[in-house]
Order: sequence, then structure tokens, then C-alpha cells
Amino acid sequence: MQIHATIRSLRSALQERIALVPTMGNLHEGHIALMKQAGELADKVVATIFVNRLQFRPTDDFEKYPRTFEADCEKLEAAGVAHLFAPDEAEMYPTPQQYHVEPPPAQAGILDGEFRPGHFRGVATVVLKLFNIVSPQVALFGKKDYQQLMVIRNMVREFNLAIEIVAGETVRAADGLALSSRNGYLSQAERAEAPYLKRLLDGVRREFLAGERDFARLEDQAMSELRARGWIPNYVAVRKKIDLQLPTAHDSELVVLGAALLGSTRLIDNLEV
Ligand code: PAJ
Repeated sequence: MQIHATIRSLRSALQERIALVPTMGNLHEGHIALMKQAGELADKVVATIFVNRLQFRPTDDFEKYPRTFEADCEKLEAAGVAHLFAPDEAEMYPTPQQYHVEPPPAQAGILDGEFRPGHFRGVATVVLKLFNIVSPQVALFGKKDYQQLMVIRNMVREFNLAIEIVAGETVRAADGLALSSRNGYLSQAERAEAPYLKRLLDGVRREFLAGERDFARLEDQAMSELRARGWIPNYVAVRKKIDLQLPTAHDSELVVLGAALLGSTRLIDNLEV
């Protein structure tokens, strides 16, 4: 029996706060940092591991997406996660999913959405399902996937979901490369080159802070620099944090985002200004 002398203690015992951290597994320190942050915000952390076919295109890496279940479980245990939900496809999609969350093209058709059509529809749909399955009070998403975070925030707001969305900072390797499950696809030479993406975005950020407001010039220059080093850039963009739309010269709450192929691996990163 728990004895409570304060209202606060009684209430918190009666309403256990659950934090949800959805992932696709192959966990690294970026995921684990989210789990730990979640542990500080709630009584119980629920992690999910589900490689969501809906958010991959047929030509994407769904089949070869790294699956490392045993190692993931060990990392989650060590991080103090109380529950792991790891369904198979039949559990998540017992019948083909016919209802979808369709984020607006202005938010989901730009940047990553332009190069991965349907991606954010698949993400929003599975995340809404996970929200309904777990019923968390709070859910955490990394800033590493800045556009995903924005789409989820807006979905929660527009559908009046009673869930607080909390952002986690991007966790990086010592050389600056943002941790990502896809880093495992890089050859040794590519891994050595990969931190360049962050340095490039940092260069754009510094030019902005030094007063440059010709965003198109900054973006074109950055794309050329990527090409010159053998990357195939998808985009480098300076956008408003709030909705990732084009800024005016007077906006200050900005983020610099980039996505590019290094060999056959697609890397994304961003830096808030
Ligand atoms: P996944 O790529 O596994 O990422 C799970 C969560 O970890 C996301 O919120 C992502 O932004 C965060 N994350 C990834 N790398 C990070 C890093 N270096 N630092 C901080 N956080 C990082 O994102 C997805 O899975 C899926 O789209 C999902 C939301 C689970 C829906 O299927």
C-alpha cells in the first residue's frame, strides 16, 4: 500500500504519466538520449520498434533497413525503459491500411517530402496509430528529423490530440556527423567524408549570422560545394523553424536543412540558427 500525505503525491500515483518514444530500431545514442529524456518527463517510458513499410517507397531501403532486435532490447533495458512495443506487420496492419493521415503538401511535399513522396503520410499514419495504441501523455521526437517533428506537431494540434510533443536535440558523433541508422551503410571513405554535411550547414548558418540574406545564393553555393566533393545534393534550404516555409529577410527563427546522397546513402541534417 502506498500512503500519500500530499495531494500532489496522491494525484501523481493515480495518474501515471506515460511517455512514448517511437523508433524503427537499430538504436543508437540519439534514440537512447530520447529514452532518457522521456524518463525525466514521465513515470513510465514506452518505446516502440516498428519498421513502418507505409513510409518507405518501393525503391527505398525497407527490406535492407537494419534490424538488430536483441542489441536494441539490451540498450532499452539499460536506459530504464519499462515497456517495449515491437509488433509485426500483421499486428499493426491486420488489414491493408485504407485510412491515412494526409499532411498538407505545403508541409509534407517540400524538402524531404519532395524527394520521398508519401513519406510523411506514412509517418503521420503510423504515429497516429501508435498514439492511439499507447495513449501517452507525452511523446518525444528528435530534431534530427526536423520536418517529421513539424508534421507531427501540426497533426497533434489540428486533431486536438491530448499529447504533448517534446523535441530532443540531435546527438552527433565526435566529428559532428548526426547519428543515424543509415550511417551503417557508409563505406570507410564515405564515413570520413560524411561530417562535411554538418560543416556545410554550419557555414551557411555563419554567413546568415554575418548578415547575408540572399537565401537563394547561400543555398546554390552550398549545393555546388556538395557537388564539387562528389555528393548528390537533394536540397540545402534556409527555412522558418515553425513551418519550414521560406523566410523573409526579417525572419530570425530559422533552421538550415540539408539532404544529400553520399554514394548510395542518403544523409539528412539540420542546424537551428
Ligand atoms: P527512427 O529513424 O528510428 O527515429 C526514431 C526517433 O529518433 C525519431 O524521433 C528521430 O528523430 C530520433 N533520432 C534519430 N536520430 C537521432 C539523433 N542523432 N539525435 C536525436 N534524435 C534522433 O523517425 C523514425 O524512426 C520513424 O519515422 C518513426 C517516427 C518511428 C515512425 O515510423
